[in-house]
Formats: sequence, C-alpha cells, structure tokens
Amino acid sequence: MQLTVNGQIHAVDVEDDMPLLWVLRDELGITGVKYGCGVAQCGACTVHLDGMAVRSCQVAAASAEGAEITTIEGLGTPEALHAVQEAWVEHQVAQCGYCQSGQIMQAASMLDFNPEPTDEDIDLVMSGNLCRCGTYPRIRAAIKTAAAKLREA
Ligand code: FES
Ligand code: FES
Repeated sequence: MQLTVNGQIHAVDVEDDMPLLWVLRDELGITGVKYGCGVAQCGACTVHLDGMAVRSCQVAAASAEGAEITTIEGLGTPEALHAVQEAWVEHQVAQCGYCQSGQIMQAASMLDFNPEPTDEDIDLVMSGNLCRCGTYPRIRAAIKTAAAKLREA
C-alpha cells in the first residue's frame, strides 16, 4: 500500500490491519511517534490524519491510505517551528519528554478547530493524553500561548 506521511509517499508491504504506529516506527523509521500503551489509553502515539488527531496504535494501516498522515516530524521544522512547538519551548514544557510529541499533536489539532480554547476545553480535549511527569500546568499554559500566537498570525 501507499501511505502519505509528512508530504512524502511511501510504499510499504504490510498487512492491512497492522497498526499505523507500527508502520510509522518499524517500517518507516519515524520515531517521534511513541508507543505507550497500545490500547488508546495514553495518547503517546497521537498523529494527524487529515488534520484530525488520532491514536495511531488503533488505526489500521489500510484505513490510512489516501489520507495525509502528519507526525511531529512534519508539524514544523527546526528553522520554522509550529506555533505549538514554539510555545512548548518557551514554557519548557517537557520533562522526560516521552509523552510530548503526542501532547503537541493533540494540541495542534485542537487549535485548528478551536482557536481560543478555555481551560475547560483544554482539559477536555487533552484529557486522553497522559503525562507521568505531571507537566499538565505547563501544557495548558503553552496551549494558551500557542493559541495567541496563531490568532496574531
Ligand atoms: S500507545 Fe496509542 S494511546 Fe497509548
Ligand atoms: S514529560 Fe514525561 S511523561 Fe510527559
């Protein structure tokens, strides 16, 4: 099958039902996306499918054919960070970092649909992205900063 990841088309020879997370990490070597639980309970594997945040451990590879798949590697570049990534740096959100690519992908997707989220909106949308290091207050602050940056832009 052919999968479009971060703007590039990749031909992969995998079973239709292989989780997209496995394809990204093990077949394509795209390791910014993380394995946490494998059962849609942690959010570490969050990527975008046509701009929507999804848990890639629960998406069958075949169902991602024809969609634009975006991982943290395709959200911004070191020279031109996405506003969410900029805000994450400004607030020094990450601690161990393991959950953070999923957090950023979830936040970026939310801001596409809700440019001015309230605390309640943030807590609701981000509640499925767990952080063992407890960076939640900084995540919330960084999302507000990113939202302001995107509105100004
Ligand atoms: S690894 Fe997919 S939600 Fe935890
Ligand atoms: S920063 Fe360590 S799990 Fe979130």
